[in-house]
Amino acid sequence: MTKHVYLDSAATTLVSKEVVEAMTQSLSEVYGNPSSTHHFGRIAKGQLEDSRRNVAAAIGAKPNQICFTSCGTESNNMVLRKSVEQLGVERILTTAIEHPSVYQTLKELSQKIEVVYLPICPKGSVLVDQLEQILKSSPKKALVSVMHANNEIGTLNDIEAICNIAHKNGAIVHSDMVQTVGHLVIDVATLGIDFIVASAHKFHGPKGIGFLYSKQSNAVGAYISGGSQERGMRSGTEGLASIVGLSVAIQNATRHIHEDLKYVDELRHFMAKKLTEKIPNIEIITPLDKSLYTVLSVGFPTTMSNDMLPFQLDMKGVACSSGSACSSGANKGSHVLEAINYPKDRKVIRFSFSKYNTKEEIEYAVNQIESLYIEMHQKMPQ
Ligand SMILES: Cc1ncc(COP(=O)(O)O)c(C=O)c1O
Repeated sequence: MTKHVYLDSAATTLVSKEVVEAMTQSLSEVYGNPSSTHHFGRIAKGQLEDSRRNVAAAIGAKPNQICFTSCGTESNNMVLRKSVEQLGVERILTTAIEHPSVYQTLKELSQKIEVVYLPICPKGSVLVDQLEQILKSSPKKALVSVMHANNEIGTLNDIEAICNIAHKNGAIVHSDMVQTVGHLVIDVATLGIDFIVASAHKFHGPKGIGFLYSKQSNAVGAYISGGSQERGMRSGTEGLASIVGLSVAIQNATRHIHEDLKYVDELRHFMAKKLTEKIPNIEIITPLDKSLYTVLSVGFPTTMSNDMLPFQLDMKGVACSSGSACSSGANKGSHVLEAINYPKDRKVIRFSFSKYNTKEEIEYAVNQIESLYIEMHQKMPQ
């Protein structure tokens, strides 16, 4: 029987045992509606607000700056659309390598407002020294929307520097931190950032729950109107068990963040080294010295590059992604690889890791990839 190794944690992570236990307790024992004023409602409200406090504490925020949403996609849509509608933003500065929840939303918003794509380096990071001049080139009210870490190639942006320049020039800042909250130390107070977005399923929490941090408690007004939950920004009865799961997941993630970082980064370096030794002409795309430690994006040699490669790896028991999982199935090329001008004849695979992976799993995966390489080369005409 094929052994299966999960190397796709940037797509989603295993839900931790502690999260499942906390959610089970909430689901089975705390069934009141947090908006009800009776005993059962008050217990639910207590659990909701405890969770909000825990989430806020994990990123250096105040509880009234956290708005629970259904996911990262919703939170990104909320900030971008409401910044235009409610805050009078007329110009959004962004990059060509944002996640589709930002990229596609801005394509749509570009019918109404100006969208500017910031210059990036060959690995995708924003060239921060050019930001000020671009901001100064227009008097329009601006929002800078730049992701913290890219989900396909792991490139990091210097959000603190971006905030400093943007604020000095009167712009507000949003960062899609879906890949970094729970993995890197984030302190919103130090950053001074206006909006960040996170999603629980990227750090061993449940799917379908995320949050928006906004510096001004309800800066964006009602995104979903109704019964005024979440300070009027997102009405609808709160998914309490999921919120509890998010809270436990973010606490666990931040508690051991430095040890986990070291452990996972060692696994990543180990895999990069072994692949480079065993597969001739393989290319490590992720800049290992300056990137998110959970992501390893690899360009396969042209001799192995075909659209079936992710499937062939899956058959060998290695679960990974081709570019970004979010657009797989749609059979579209990656806009990220296109933006960094990555050669089209090389198939790019993203391996991504979590603290639950082991060195043995990485060894197994590399051996399977090597055996696929050998099989493919034996079949090639000599
Ligand atoms: C960088 C980034 N932003 C946003 C999202 C969307 O998050 P969600 O799956 O919670 O909608 C993802 C998911 O892959 C992501 O990687």
